Amino acid sequence: MSIVPTMAGGLLGLDSYLVDWLDLLLRCLHVIAAIAWIGTSFYFVLLDQSLRPPEDAEDEAAGVAGELWEVHGGGFYHVQKYRVAPPTLPEHLAWFKWEAYTTWLSGFALVVVLYYFSASSKLVDPSVANLSDWEAITLSVGLLVVAWLAYDVLCRLLGKDERALAVSVGVLAVVSAFVATQLFAPRAAFLQVGAMLGTIMAANVLFVIIPAHWELIRAKEAGREPNPAPGLEGKRRSVHNNYLTLPVLFTMLAGHFPLAYGAGRAWLVLVAFMALGAFARLFFNLRHRGRTHWWMPVAAAAAVVALAVALNPDAATPGPGGGADAAAVGRGRAVFASAGCAGCHTLADASATGAVGPNLDNAKPSFALVSTRVTNGQGVMPPFSGRLTKQQISDVAVYVSNISHGASP
Ligand code: HEC
Repeated sequence: MSIVPTMAGGLLGLDSYLVDWLDLLLRCLHVIAAIAWIGTSFYFVLLDQSLRPPEDAEDEAAGVAGELWEVHGGGFYHVQKYRVAPPTLPEHLAWFKWEAYTTWLSGFALVVVLYYFSASSKLVDPSVANLSDWEAITLSVGLLVVAWLAYDVLCRLLGKDERALAVSVGVLAVVSAFVATQLFAPRAAFLQVGAMLGTIMAANVLFVIIPAHWELIRAKEAGREPNPAPGLEGKRRSVHNNYLTLPVLFTMLAGHFPLAYGAGRAWLVLVAFMALGAFARLFFNLRHRGRTHWWMPVAAAAAVVALAVALNPDAATPGPGGGADAAAVGRGRAVFASAGCAGCHTLADASATGAVGPNLDNAKPSFALVSTRVTNGQGVMPPFSGRLTKQQISDVAVYVSNISHGASP
């Protein structure tokens, strides 16, 4: 149960126990739908990359562009893809759209329940931007729409120039990461960017891909030759979605790790995560086309190691006796006193004798442990991310880690 009172409690009479259940159920739905959606995306892009020209001349004449033999689940499958449409429409046709819609709807509901209802503690961080709850919520929703419009305009303007489009969408993602981290609390900023990219993906399905399928079907029903253009555009958007899957996933997961969203210049960390995700997709898409570049996973692994080294908070903070920033120690001491840490913890330097949590003189926590615990809380210890600024958390972590290790202030 969350200890920080939420706006949901105030506004709708929801208590934090109910919010926890909504969180659990919506999160399950969201993850399950997203698995189904990303699974179909991976499968169909793999299928398209692996198609071979049809073996049978009759199939070729009937409009089959490519086929693939597959073995799975105890049997053989023979899948064929038509250039535009089969000569006659089949009676049963499987569609793939509810995975996308359910993922978006459950994801948005989660944002509302967890971030908008508790905007003052989760979405707004006065040390980042001085926004009222409603300003932050409006900006958050508005940016979802802006992201889609900007992406859609880029697709229309740049037409078939895939390289220019890839670069522009990359720039759009970088700008989104930068803007979000200047507006929202660090954790919410990561989520916001994931939600913006996820909105682009779901809107691609709703506004481009599914309408393209309807054009094919309506044309066949009316007995006219379907216009292939919408189908080709649908395919292009579906490939874009494939490249967005892992950046979105990494963004959502990184939001659970203060080492990522709590870092200085967190937007750059976010960009690194997104780039790694898209790069991983590129590796697999090339591989399924028969071009395996082993340097790619090696380069990605090197980049992850470099990221881990760059983000290591212990390396950035002077160790015991290593000349800790005396000013930070002083500020941290003040935070320790005013934030109520003393009520629960023992720390000789602060004359604190609390016994609810571990004795910090004995525990001698590292900088990283203090900043993680203070940011997120654990068990009985409440999270301070909404009450203390990033700077204050860093200061109190410098203070506790140095003092408890016996450094002279
Ligand atoms: C309501 C009581 C309470 C308050 C207030 C509180 N803590 Fe804690 N703290 C705890 C408890 C309980 C734990 C153990 C959590 C666990 O591991 O389940 C803990 C764990 C920690 C740890 C990890 C220690 C270890 O060795 O695992 C650190 C560091 C810490 N707190 C620092 C702080 C600081 C700094 C503040 C003030 C900003 C603070 N705490 C405020 C109760 C509190």
